[in-house]
Amino acid sequence: MMEAAWDPQPETGIDVIDAQHRTLLDMMNDLAEAFRAGRAADQARECLALLAQHGGEHFQTEERFMWAMGDPDLAAHRVEHAQLTQRLQELRARQGRGYLVTAELATLVADWRQHHLHGADQAFLRFTKTVFRG
Ligand SMILES: [Fe+2]
Repeated sequence: MMEAAWDPQPETGIDVIDAQHRTLLDMMNDLAEAFRAGRAADQARECLALLAQHGGEHFQTEERFMWAMGDPDLAAHRVEHAQLTQRLQELRARQGRGYLVTAELATLVADWRQHHLHGADQAFLRFTKTVFRG
């Protein structure tokens, strides 16, 4: 179901964001482990709550830095964050109504990982490098 864990990535150099990335990475690796062990259904509730909380904080932090640094990709990046946030909220709502959401959670985390490793977060990372290192 869920393939590899969320790989480590080059750091942005912004301590608070790098720390948040590590926290999210740990959570996603725990979830991947739960999938491998067949425990994902048990952990989905807690995992979703944690991802929603830490993910929401992280997206806000990232957007504040992008705004402060004048990153031209802020608007598009914000849309991706909003979509991930909305999907998290929808899954939590469905879970609250008693649905099993583990498969969708795996898809959401895979898409999040894509955003982080290959998508908008990589563009942000390149931008921070131009700001910090010229
Ligand atoms: Fe992001």
